[in-house]
Amino acid sequence: MKTKPKVFLTRELPPECMRQLSESAELTYNREDRCLSKEEILLGVAGADGLLCLLTDTIDDEILAAGADLRVVSNFAVGFNNIDVEAATKRRIPVTNTPGVLTDSTADMTWALLMDAARRVTEGDRLVRTKQWGGWGPLQLLGADITGATLGLVGFGRIGQAVARRAKGFDMKVVYWSRTRLNPEEEACLGVEYRSLDQLLGESDFVSLHVALNEQTVHLIGRKELEKMKSSACLINTARGPVVDEKALVVALKSGAIASAGLDVYEREPLLEPELYDLDNAVLAPHLGSATIGTRTKMGNMAVENCLLACAGKMPPNLVNPDAYV
Ligand code: DGY
Repeated sequence: MKTKPKVFLTRELPPECMRQLSESAELTYNREDRCLSKEEILLGVAGADGLLCLLTDTIDDEILAAGADLRVVSNFAVGFNNIDVEAATKRRIPVTNTPGVLTDSTADMTWALLMDAARRVTEGDRLVRTKQWGGWGPLQLLGADITGATLGLVGFGRIGQAVARRAKGFDMKVVYWSRTRLNPEEEACLGVEYRSLDQLLGESDFVSLHVALNEQTVHLIGRKELEKMKSSACLINTARGPVVDEKALVVALKSGAIASAGLDVYEREPLLEPELYDLDNAVLAPHLGSATIGTRTKMGNMAVENCLLACAGKMPPNLVNPDAYV
């Protein structure tokens, strides 16, 4: 009888994924609803064929070395900045991610934050709940118009494009900046115009970030970039926290250099720059971009498939380091 691969999973996934993993693998997993410490991951990977991990797990070379039998590191996320991919490639360990399946839920979340920040929904909710609302007022909690405004998308991959498609329903002008420019037919089809980053920052009423986190994008939005934005503008971040210099963002929100922010991700999750907690012009969500039942199940199924195929010596479909096979 074929032996099952040994898989170490760092936190419980949706039930459908757990069923498949328990049927197809000799599964060890963290049964507590918390992140594992580095020491716990080091112990867990010893003897494992597959590591199925999360964006909250830092997988460095020490962990890869401790997992001497590892045939795959399967990340339950599209972003894989939590994994030292270069080190994994040197050790010939394939790394996989979950692209595509969280595009729509993350684009929807971008819109939830954009609309909330623009129309001050959460701020109003706080007013009502703290019983400080004295009734309707003509000058009360006035927000920004969304319809007809200009949306600037920084990064224009799958998620950026899905956000652009939704903007059409609000008759928005959509401009984008990205490392690679689309061809004119694609731009026309999506109804978007290309801008330099500086132009986009100066022109947009809403700036939404959709770049991957890497050396080039750490603090892509810092003090200088925030100062280029309109004082009435809103910054949305559903990408990765370190893309924005959070200290500079606090200064910009406090000084009125920009009007508001809608954030789903932070530089040092789960910690925030302390002053952010007290800023009424920031909507703060706890990294919920892909948090729907359907999306998390699809992400889990994809991560499980990547893991099991690689453990079986086959090339997984969502490989991020093809050089691991060279
Ligand atoms: C990802 O997959 O990178 C998302 O941030 C998860 O919510």
